[in-house]
Formats: sequence, structure tokens, C-alpha cells
Amino acid sequence: MVDTLTPVLSAIWDTRKSWTLKTYEQHDGYQALRQALRTPRSELVDAVKASGLRGRGGAGFPTGMKWGFLPPDDGLPRYLVVNADESEPGTCKDTPLMLANPHVLIEGVIISAYAIGAARAFVYLRGEELHVYRRLLKAVADARAAGYIGNDILGSGFDLDVVVHAGAGAYICGEETALLDSLEGRRGQPRLKPPFPAVAGLYARPTVVNNVESIASVPSIVRNGAEWFAGMGTEKSKGYGLFSVSGHVKHPGQYEAPLGITMRQLLELAGGMREGSTLKFWTPGGSSTPLFTAEHLDVPLDFESTAAAGSMLGTRALQMFDQTTSVVRAVLRWTEFYAHESCGKCTPCREGTYWMVQILRRLEAGKGTEEDIDTLLDTCDNILGRSFCALGDGATSPITSAVKYFREEFVAGTRTPARELFPYRASTVF
Ligand code: NAI
Ligand code: SF4
Repeated sequence: MVDTLTPVLSAIWDTRKSWTLKTYEQHDGYQALRQALRTPRSELVDAVKASGLRGRGGAGFPTGMKWGFLPPDDGLPRYLVVNADESEPGTCKDTPLMLANPHVLIEGVIISAYAIGAARAFVYLRGEELHVYRRLLKAVADARAAGYIGNDILGSGFDLDVVVHAGAGAYICGEETALLDSLEGRRGQPRLKPPFPAVAGLYARPTVVNNVESIASVPSIVRNGAEWFAGMGTEKSKGYGLFSVSGHVKHPGQYEAPLGITMRQLLELAGGMREGSTLKFWTPGGSSTPLFTAEHLDVPLDFESTAAAGSMLGTRALQMFDQTTSVVRAVLRWTEFYAHESCGKCTPCREGTYWMVQILRRLEAGKGTEEDIDTLLDTCDNILGRSFCALGDGATSPITSAVKYFREEFVAGTRTPARELFPYRASTVF
């Protein structure tokens, strides 16, 4: 058994009533805030820079550098926005984090807002997650009653209001500028970048947009120091992260481990594949990242190694599929999702995802042609790099990688329906 788990964010998840203020305070909760409020703002930004923390929402942009892009304080409002609109298929780390320990996020929000000089912070949550919304509202109310939010926090002179906002349930609102439009009350569609939100974000004011897990990592960096954080992980992918293992494994769940751990190690921690299951393919970071197969089990799960192996670390949503899964059917389901969630702003994604669904449906039904496979790849080629935001690019990843590794299954889709090649059974994921 590998012994590489680093429970920091998940440290108290198994504690009774882990989500309450009382439990959090019993485990040193809000001590980092007290420490931060005694520290000059620039030192906090420098500490996050030195820690090497990179965005945990998928793109891996250095968090401290992003904070450093804010223009000098001009006395006018600036904002912190937490992207809690977790919607990538297979991605399920921020939701359990907010449910099991909302206060680590709130403490991170207060410290981060203080560091960047924001007097108002927003947490933008998926509209469907009413249970998480209620939990966050209660946690914010409790933090306010305890003097952690409001005016003159803990006698420091720092004022902060925190607003929890539930969206209407659109995948595109996880794209940071669509999120900002939605928060402003408009239809959520991506804005042209640059300007990046750090320069002109919410209400055209400087805004830092960070993922839940990134902000929740800040208290532990303040408490333990940048060196402690940077001591974990790899040379360029520092620290630890939540790895969400799902699919045909014995023990699906969240495994908090240093970046650079391999899927083979995580699989061992997850009890291996289920009885009778052999690994066929997996996603390293949700369905927007190119598929991996058994030959990639030893690729270190960090930003650089996953890219070198032809995929992306993304959101560390490790979906494991066994030999009973039709890759054509899996890819069809994901593509239907992207076509449904495409915001329609740009032609390659709006039209391309629609046509890819039509082709994949034919191949899944055993009614495709060999020409369909070429048209499918050609459509991907015309979406990739030509779409307005990452949704279009992401929609092509499962298709191109699936054809690369399992072309024969697509060819079989010109003769035989997927339901005959891969009959449904109780544990079928797709
Ligand atoms: P991006 O690479 O364009 O930007 C990443 C972050 O860095 C953004 O906050 C951006 O504002 C900032 N940034 C980049 N260059 C900058 C510059 N020159 N100046 C100032 N700031 C700069 O990636 P994007 O489009 O924000 O995110 C794509 C990723 O999101 C994908 O890789 C995917 O893994 C992930 N994703 C996550 C989902 C989830 O549910 N968590 C859903 C869908 C995608
Ligand atoms: Fe909208 Fe898709 Fe274009 Fe993004 S790529 S702007 S989701 S149509």
C-alpha cells in the first residue's frame, strides 16, 4: 500500500459535524486569519507566490501571479470571486469540500480578500446545488456572527462582505468571464480576453477569480508557510490536491495527495478495479482532457507530465472505465453534454458540437460510415483553436483521443450497434 495521502483540506471530513464553526475552530480554524490580519498584504501575496500554488480549477495558472496582476489600489472597489460552478463531467471535488468543510473556504476567502484589498467577495455556486448553497449561507452567517466577516474584522480595521450567489445551472458559467456576466445579471457568455478579469472584471473593476480549492488552500499556506507547501509535489507543480476517483473502481472517492502521484498509486489506494474489471481508458482531468489508457498509469499527475503524455491535469477528475464500456457511447454522452451546454456565441462550437453528436449517434447505432470517422476528426480540427473559449476545445478532446486509441471501435460502429458490442449491465457507467 502506498502511503502518500496528504490530508489537509480533507483532514476533518470524517469528524462529527465537520461543517460547523465549532468543529472548525476546534481544529485551529480561523487561526490563520488572525495571523494574516497581522501580516502586511504584500507579504501574503508574496507567500502565495512563493508557495507555487497553481489554480486548482483546471488551468493551473499561478495563483500568486494572478493576484500580482491587480493594478495598484486606487481606492475604488475591487473584488474577489470564487468560482464554485463546478460542472466538468466527472469533477466532484469542490462540492464535497464545501459540504464537509465550508469554513476552510470562507477563511480562505477572508484572507485572500484582505491580501488583495477587496471589501466584497462573491462565491458563485452551481444553481442545482441547493444543499451546498444552504450550507454556505449558514457558514457565512456563523462566520459573520463570530466577527470573522463584517466591519473591523477581529479589530484589524479590515471590512469585508461575503455574498453567496447561486447561478442558474449552466456549464458555461464556470468560464470566468461568463461567470462575471452572469453575476452582473446578464446572460452568461464568455467575454473577449484581454482584458483579463485582474484588470477589468466584475463591474469592469479589477477582480481576482479563483477556484474553490485554490482559495481553500490559502489558510494552510499562511499557517504552515510557503516552504511547507512548496515542499510537496513536483518541481513545477507544487503542493497537494484533491484527486476524485470514480467509475469501475472498488472504492471511488476523494484522495488528497501530492501532485505528481500516479494513477497506479491512486488506483491502489482506491482498492484497484472492481472484481472482473480490467482498465480500458480513463480521464486524467474530466472529460475535456484527452483520454488515457492503461499505458499511462505511471504518468505523474502533475501539469507538465500529463501535458507531455498528450493530455492535461485539468480538474483531477479520474474517471476509470473497464472493458465493458463502449468508448463510442461514452464519447457520445460527453459530446451531447457539450452540444447542450454550448452557449452559441461562436460558430465552430455551436454548429460543430451539434454535427458531432449527429455523427456519433450514427456510429453508436451501428449505422455510421468510414467517411463519418474522417468527418468527425475534420470537425474536431475545425473547432480546436478556432473557438472563442475552452468549451469548444474541450469538446474535441475525448473524440480525438478515443479515435486515436480505439479506432477499431469506431470502425465497428459502421456495422454493429454499441448495445450489441457492449450490452448494458448493472454497473455500466455509460
Ligand atoms: P486560461 O488558461 O485561459 O486562464 C486561466 C486563468 O489565468 C484565468 O483566471 C485567466 O484570467 C488567468 N490568466 C491567464 N493569462 C493571463 C494573463 N496574461 N493576465 C492575467 N490573467 C491571466 O484557462 P480558462 O479558460 O480560465 O480555464 C480552462 C480550464 O478550465 C480547462 O483547462 C479545464 O481544465 C478547466 N475547466 C474546469 C471546469 C470545472 O468544473 N472546474 C469546467 C470546465 C473547464
Ligand atoms: Fe460559447 Fe462554445 Fe464559443 Fe465558448 S466555444 S463561446 S461555449 S459557443
